[in-house]
Amino acid sequence: MIENVETQAFIQKYTKVLNQFLKEHLPDSVTNLSLSESMQYSVFAGGKRLRPLLLLAMLQVSGTAIDTNSVQVAAALELLHTYSLIHDDLPAMDNDDLRRGLPTNHKKYGEALAILAGDGLLTLAFEWIATTKFSPKVVSQLTYALAHAAGPAGMVAGQATDVLGEGKQLSFMQLKQLHKQKTGALITYTAQAANIIATTSSINQKYLVTFAENFGLAFQIYDDLEDVLSSEKAMGKAVHKDAEEHKNTYPSIRGLTQSKKDLMQCVMNCREALNKLQHNGNSTNLLQGFLEYFQLNEEEK
Ligand code: IPE
Ligand code: IPE
Ligand code: MG
Ligand code: MG
Ligand code: MG
Repeated sequence: MIENVETQAFIQKYTKVLNQFLKEHLPDSVTNLSLSESMQYSVFAGGKRLRPLLLLAMLQVSGTAIDTNSVQVAAALELLHTYSLIHDDLPAMDNDDLRRGLPTNHKKYGEALAILAGDGLLTLAFEWIATTKFSPKVVSQLTYALAHAAGPAGMVAGQATDVLGEGKQLSFMQLKQLHKQKTGALITYTAQAANIIATTSSINQKYLVTFAENFGLAFQIYDDLEDVLSSEKAMGKAVHKDAEEHKNTYPSIRGLTQSKKDLMQCVMNCREALNKLQHNGNSTNLLQGFLEYFQLNEEEK
């Protein structure tokens, strides 16, 4: 639970805005009814909407007004993220039955439609970016950065290392690289996209990227930790799966205690990046609040 009042209000407001945008535009974008149902099923199953919220929060911190075009880019990012979850859960990948508190897409619609729902969400994400009213230059930069982050130099490469690495122990350096790619790249895109869209030059953009890179690594370390420490009910997905599948994770390679320290180090790096931004006169309280996500509860400490 996030206690920072500004962050809480922002999350509440923009989760609604994002969900409204998705509700209005997703059904119209799909012409096959079964495919449409399967795509909507996973998008509206819930989910924290963390990546689009971060993108919008970064715009706000940069002093750029949030308009429909930036909401469209943020929503596109959520489509792409949802595709990654549907494919991640497939029997050939992590073979999971529960996601966002509901049966996984392939459990509900079968593997063929789940693969196609993922394909549809991935490609639609780029269509949505292409059809914003941003200038051709901004659209092309947003497109390139997303393709680079999500594709075979980023998330897809990370997913390949993850799946092929099952049962083999990676070095710490390889593990860090894996996490940066499979999860960090898409989260780092939130800063890259905000920097591309931003209309002001008041912000030192590199600190926003440093914040997002560390946030991204922290996010996967935390996810690894929660797989060991949390419950299916709290997570809306199976826990203790990583050890079962012999995955390379922070707890398996670094141990629990060191993983918690590694997480705290990433959070400190995030704070440091925000302090540098603040030093330049920007209010960063909104982004500080997002760091509360990484708190461990009493039993998990
Ligand atoms: C889950 O992402 C996949 C990881 C990268 C760990 P989220 O934890 O953001 O999942 P949702 O969107 O809230 O379901
Ligand atoms: C997910 O990593 C990374 C993605 C790119 C989807 P995980 O496999 O650990 O995510 P969960 O735990 O299934 O959400
Ligand atoms: Mg996985
Ligand atoms: Mg998984
Ligand atoms: Mg996980």
